[in-house]
Amino acid sequence: MSLHISAKPGEIADFVLMPGDPLRAEWIANTYLEEVTCYNKVRGMLGFTGKFRGKKVSVQGSGMGIPSALIYYTELIREYGVKTIIRVGTAGALQGHLKLRDLVMALSASTTSGINRESFPYGDYAPTADFSLLRRAMGQAKALDMEFEAGNILSADVFYPSSGDVYTPWKEHGVLCVEMETAALYTVAARYGVRALSLLTISDSLVRGEHSSAADRERSFEDMATLALHCR
Ligand code: HPA
Repeated sequence: MSLHISAKPGEIADFVLMPGDPLRAEWIANTYLEEVTCYNKVRGMLGFTGKFRGKKVSVQGSGMGIPSALIYYTELIREYGVKTIIRVGTAGALQGHLKLRDLVMALSASTTSGINRESFPYGDYAPTADFSLLRRAMGQAKALDMEFEAGNILSADVFYPSSGDVYTPWKEHGVLCVEMETAALYTVAARYGVRALSLLTISDSLVRGEHSSAADRERSFEDMATLALHCR
């Protein structure tokens, strides 16, 4: 039992998929896992453990934004001994060539958050995916015949910025898309020596002004969850 997760020791797998939305966590568990149990309902941030092809896997909602997600990342790693976290989330495209439903693997996560100032007051830390996990995801994507892009992404603190201009320097430096959690995941995973990767589906384009339908979001989540589970 940690402050925000009511699981008993041993109830959470060492490999965890983390969507932002707790109802997505429930959907992934019920759709892909066998022998599913729910280990957390605290604050409605549902967490489940089950088996994928006989191997134990957990799926835990993180909530939206770094402050919420970082609580769950930290407690899973520190209190429950989790060794691998794969975020499965959505993102807004910052480059014109990215289309709705495209899959992005986040090599690195730039951020507008103050998170790294707290740990690194004298410099800019570069939050980076775990290379072995990234390589596995690339191999599995190829085996599953899934196309993807990989590159730098932006983890922003604000979903509704005061002006669209805030994205200009990030776009001009090739940053692929914007979401709200990965920089914290990569930083805390590095701190505790565990593996982390973010898989993101483009749900909006901030270049083309397009938004996915609910049905499209569902389908793209299927691909992403399948790929993440095959990284087990
Ligand atoms: N901004 C931040 N996070 C997001 C977005 C966005 O436009 N779309 C999906 N996640």
